[in-house]
Amino acid sequence: MNSASNRFLSRRGFLAATAGFAMSLPMRPGRASAVDERSIKAAPSQARVAGSDRPPASAWAYNDTVPGPVLRVRQGQPVRIAVENGLAEDTTVHWHGIRLPNAMDGVPGLTQPPIAPEASFTYEFTPPDAGTFWYHPHADSLVQLGRGLAGMLIVEEAEPVAFDRDLIWLLQDWRLAADGEIAGGFGSAMDAAMSGRVGNLVTINGTVPADQAVRAGERVRLRLANAALARIMALRFEGHRPIVLAIDGQPCEPHEPEDGRLVLGPAMRIDVALDMRGEPGGRYRVTDDFYDGLAYTLTTLAYDNAPPLRTRSLDAPPALPRNPLPEPNLDNAIRQEIVLQGGMVGGGKLAGVGGMMGMAMPGMKGAAAWAINGTSMIGDGHAGMMPQFMLRRGVTCRLTLRNETAWWHPMHVHGFSLLLLSRNGVPAPHRQWQDTVLLAPKDTVECAFVADNPGDWMLHCHVADHQMAGLMTVFRVT
Ligand code: C2O
Ligand code: CU
Ligand code: CU
Repeated sequence: MNSASNRFLSRRGFLAATAGFAMSLPMRPGRASAVDERSIKAAPSQARVAGSDRPPASAWAYNDTVPGPVLRVRQGQPVRIAVENGLAEDTTVHWHGIRLPNAMDGVPGLTQPPIAPEASFTYEFTPPDAGTFWYHPHADSLVQLGRGLAGMLIVEEAEPVAFDRDLIWLLQDWRLAADGEIAGGFGSAMDAAMSGRVGNLVTINGTVPADQAVRAGERVRLRLANAALARIMALRFEGHRPIVLAIDGQPCEPHEPEDGRLVLGPAMRIDVALDMRGEPGGRYRVTDDFYDGLAYTLTTLAYDNAPPLRTRSLDAPPALPRNPLPEPNLDNAIRQEIVLQGGMVGGGKLAGVGGMMGMAMPGMKGAAAWAINGTSMIGDGHAGMMPQFMLRRGVTCRLTLRNETAWWHPMHVHGFSLLLLSRNGVPAPHRQWQDTVLLAPKDTVECAFVADNPGDWMLHCHVADHQMAGLMTVFRVT
């Protein structure tokens, strides 16, 4: 046997051994069951964030592109993703929003050893839910995400859903210095205790947005993801009526957003159906007016001159097929409360952290500006983090998130999607599930989930500065 066929055989043998469960299942035609193999490498690179006519900025990238490659995988199909670390520091990859085994969650110290420079690690999981997810490092998060390491992870529905086009907008926010390079000064005390590192340039799919070419009459599925470190966005589509189909990857009842604004905190995703009801040749602005007095035009929908794709207008978009999320049992729920504390208050003082109530865990460097239930865990995740609470596998947890601070926080939970029950006492509409819940100052949100996935799971603010400075905790499902 020559060496080529030898290699081929051993490769097959390897596949059969590790994917035996898939191989032994009867395969239905058209059903994906073989392992989908991908690889990504994190390494220093260049990114033309400010446009092709400007010098590129030094960035960190997956497979040399900012954002990283779009990983499209299939619901229910096992995927194996080899991650190689070409950086000069440790990294990991976290598959944000995917319900997967704890060991594949990518939290250094907590769920895996960090991937050292020049080392690699292979993640394996079978995404149970279709939808819009993303991936990013969970080591030195503020710097690694801020230098460009992020990518879209799309899990295709097992049965395809019909749209004329499937469009992705991965939104990033950069703080560029005058020379066009990414500004240093990550983790300043000011950013940490206030709104986080908000930048000065918002990009779509890695570059300052040009016009978005569209055609009259088409129905687009637009997948929006906010991969910014800190910037909250509220998008309006002039002359259009986007219908929200899914939030954080999870289908909800289709609805028009309140006030016509799509609000995306860092790490949040929204899928909308966007019917191009403008005129051929027309131009319509997409604006972001989240911060008072700082509204700007993000991009423009530029219609080509082609006649409308269809003449009669479409019916309302149907709901996306639901994902197999376990239904919370509220009659028998375990109540837990997460109280967010700290941050800068009037007079440049910190609200009671670091002194009386803040208690940094041993072995953590950096300063705490925030706390959860009186404890500040800082950094990215560590070995020996003490769980804030424990849940027996299978119980329903009714979780209250209470923001006592004067700042906004997109609170993210790993490994689960939360069914939103109410916000400030008002029942949540649209049956929405989220992995990242944006809390306005003083907001209280109630949500619920079934603790069906064992392990130690992170719960943290996705404003990277806030996470690093204490807005992070862990809970355990046993
Ligand atoms: Cu996007 Cu700890 O996660
Ligand atoms: Cu996550
Ligand atoms: Cu926060």
